[in-house]
Formats: sequence, structure tokens, C-alpha cells
Amino acid sequence: NKRVKIKTILEQGLIGSEITLMGWVRTKRSNKNVSFIAMNDGSIITNYQVVADPNVISEDILKKCTTGACLKITGTVVESQGAGQSSELNAKSIEVLGEADPEKYPLQPKKHSLEFLREIAHLRMRTNTFGAVFRVRHALAFAVHQYFNDKGFFYIHTPIITASDAEGAGETFKVTTLDIGNPPKTEEGKVDFKQDFFEREANLTVSGQLEGELAAMALSEIYTFGPTFRAENSNTTRHLAEFWMIEPEMAFYDAEDNADLAEDFLKYLIRYALDHCQEDLQFLESRLLDEEKSKPQDQRSEMSLLEKLKFVVDNEFVRISYTEAIDILRNSNPNKKKKFQYLIESWGADLQSEHERYLVEKHFKKPVILTDYPKEIKSFYMRQNDDGKTVAAMDILFPGIGEIIGGSQREERLDVLLQRMDEMNIPKEEMWWFLDTRRFGATPHAGFGLGFERMVQFVTGMGNIRDVIAFPRTPGNAEF
Ligand code: 4AD
Ligand code: MG
Repeated sequence: NKRVKIKTILEQGLIGSEITLMGWVRTKRSNKNVSFIAMNDGSIITNYQVVADPNVISEDILKKCTTGACLKITGTVVESQGAGQSSELNAKSIEVLGEADPEKYPLQPKKHSLEFLREIAHLRMRTNTFGAVFRVRHALAFAVHQYFNDKGFFYIHTPIITASDAEGAGETFKVTTLDIGNPPKTEEGKVDFKQDFFEREANLTVSGQLEGELAAMALSEIYTFGPTFRAENSNTTRHLAEFWMIEPEMAFYDAEDNADLAEDFLKYLIRYALDHCQEDLQFLESRLLDEEKSKPQDQRSEMSLLEKLKFVVDNEFVRISYTEAIDILRNSNPNKKKKFQYLIESWGADLQSEHERYLVEKHFKKPVILTDYPKEIKSFYMRQNDDGKTVAAMDILFPGIGEIIGGSQREERLDVLLQRMDEMNIPKEEMWWFLDTRRFGATPHAGFGLGFERMVQFVTGMGNIRDVIAFPRTPGNAEF
């Protein structure tokens, strides 16, 4: 008997077929005459009902069919008597592949809090919520490759160990091969960290962008999709120390082409999830509706998860400059809220997340593409605008998430770039290879980075970024 997945049974019917099902017990209900075992194998959110007759399956075996146990069941697919499911499996034999002692198994057939499940991340994928989240995450990752492949972009694998700090923000994790007992020393006798990676300095990458730019100068349109690392000590629901980023980089694109691509890409990913993850999204939506019920009326969201996703797909994003955004913020709250006050005084300040939220959730109620930021608050590689004050930067802000994408048109003019690097204390000598793209065959180009976990958060409606990556890396968290 071939093993058949639950998804396949539900899709194909298979009434009358003898099949083998393998998976894990979610619940078991028994009476004298019969046991009903709800099984799940991860292929779909739906549990599949197995009917076991104690005259056929021994009491000893049935006793071991407890929540969490892994079973191999052979039987016949029959029309279901009960409501809800069209078929069920009449068990002829059950083999217990792996027991799960009900006294010790941490997952009970009841609702556990996300906080509790975070403590048992090694088991939480066995719950409905996390099964749904990780199937959606997979679908989105697949859609990323589908999208770019269809457009003729090439996937570049950029290094994880590198000497450069692409964002110049100094938030890198060091990589070391140091012999702790016998480290290389500087002339003053101190440990020489400049030599800690096989006699030179290295860190984990914060972004694949700079290498991506090199590739775009050869293959025209490329993207990266890999893990990136930030050693910022932020404990928020939007930050991880290790997160995945998608970074397309395109020769011959200007800032507007860049924004067009980003908007189209985000909508494609959401549409893909709507088309391919219906059951999971419906489950996640109902989960959120439950959660909402415990909130006061005025804090409940106006749209359900699916409505929100469809809304983003169907509506054009707002595009405004930083300067226009500041004006809106200044006029929004002339005297009431202190936190908007400093913006009135200083053009040039970075927007805080409450400002971003105000623009997206209160003022426009739509995703916003914010462009042309003051150059002082953005990275050295962004192209300077003619006003001498701003750069062709682009941040995309999403409701409930804040910044989901950061990008820009790049500074392709060597002299302007060199001057900017001097002003921002970016070491030019070490970046000679990057500067070569501006020396040989330079062209206008642009790109952006999508934080993959923030995208998964938006699509699944999960409030905490720790709940959309299997094993989150946050300050102090690296056990499993
Ligand atoms: O804005 P960031 O820092 O931009 C870059 O790294 C550029 N090199 C991208 C490019 O132009 N190729 O990061 C891009 C996105 C953010 O908008 C956010 O979605 C996500 O990456 N991100 C994080 N996600 C989770 N945890 C963190 N600590 C993140 N930092 C950034
Ligand atoms: Mg950013």
C-alpha cells in the first residue's frame, strides 16, 4: 500500500481505495464500540478522521494512540457518516511508529498561547496555527522565485561571510577563527580583531546588496534571497537578529521603475497566497477574529485578514516624498500630541514608527511608498537628488507592519559617491571592488530589500515576528 497524504485524499476522493496514512494523532475520542482518531500529516490544515473498531484494532494499540503519537494506518476510504468531512478511513491495521507519553507531551488538544508555544519552538509546528504559518511561508518563498524567474531575473547567491558592512551601520556580527588561547596580537599586545577570520576581518552579512550590484552590472536583473544578520539589540515584534531578505537589483532602472517593480512584486506575492493558501488563510483569519473579540471595540480592526489582503492587491499604493509626509504629520496634530512635535521643528529627522503608522493606518489607510529622504538619515550608496539635500530612497510602509521594504536608486557617479563616502566615514580603500562598478561600465541602477518575515507577518496576520520563522534568533535566543 502506497502512503497517501491527507491533502491527496481530500482532493481525489479515493472512496473504496485501500490506502496507508502516516501522521500524528491530534485527538482521540472513544466509546465502547468505536474510536475516532483525528490525524494530521502536515500536508493540509484539515485533520482526517480514522475510525477504529476495537474488534479489529487491539486495545493495547488503541491505548497508545494518544495526542502526539505517530501512526501508520492502513484501511479503506469510506463515505463519512458524520457531517463536515466527506470521507474517513476505516482502519484495518494501526502501527504505532512513535509513542508520545500523554503525561509528558507538552502539547495538549486545546488552545495554547503563542508565548507558551514560543518556549517549545521545537514542537510548535505541530499546531494548527504554526502548520498554517509555515505552509504560507513556503508558498511565499516559492512565489518569490516564480515571480523573478518569469521576469527573467537571475537568482544570485551572495556570501554570508563578508568583510563589508553594506549598510554602514555597524550592526554586524563578527566571524572568528581565533584560537582563543593563542590569538593574533597587535603591536601593542592586544587581541587583533582585524585578523580574526583566517588573518583578516570578517562578519556575517547584513545585506547582499553590494554583491548584488556587481551581478546586476553583468546580468542586468538579479535578485538575492538569503539570510541576513543584524546585531542590533532591539526587542520588538518586528526585529530579528537573523532574518531573510529578498534583494532585487536592476541595471537601467531609475527610482520610479524601482517603485513600480516593488509594488507589483508585493501584490503578486499576496495574490499568490490568496490563490494557493486558501484553507490556511481562512484558518488564520478565524484565529484573528477570536483574538479580536477580547479587544475593546475601538481597537478592533475594520477589515478581516482576507479583506485586508484583497484591499492591498486591488488598490494603488500612495506615493509621496518624505517632505510631503512631514507636512502631513505637521498638520495632523498641530498641538495635541507631543510625539509629532519635533517634526515641526526639524526637517531631516528620521520618522519613528508611530509616524509611519499614522500615515499608513490613520491618514491614507493604504500602503505608502515614501521617497526622497534627507541624505543624512540614509545609506551612502543612495543616489543624490539635484536639490543636494535628499536622496532617491524608497521605503514602503504597510499597515500593521511599518517598513516592509527599503530601497533606492544607486549613486552611479563615481565622484559623487566618493565624496559621500568621505562625508560618512565609509572606508574607500576596502571598497575598491564596489567602486570598480562605477569605474567600468557604470550605469544608472536601482534595487530594494524586502524583509521576508515582515511579509509573512502581513500575509498571515501574526503579530510577532518570532512566530513566522521556525527558530527565531533574537537577543539571547539561540537554543534551537
Ligand atoms: O532597510 P534595510 O536595512 O535595507 C537594506 O538592507 C538594503 N541593502 C536593501 C536594498 O536596497 N537592497 O532592510 C530592508 C528590509 C526592511 O525594510 C525590513 O523589511 C527588513 O529588511 N529588516 C528586518 N527584518 C527583520 N528584522 C530586522 N532586524 C530587520 N532589519 C531590516
Ligand atoms: Mg530601512
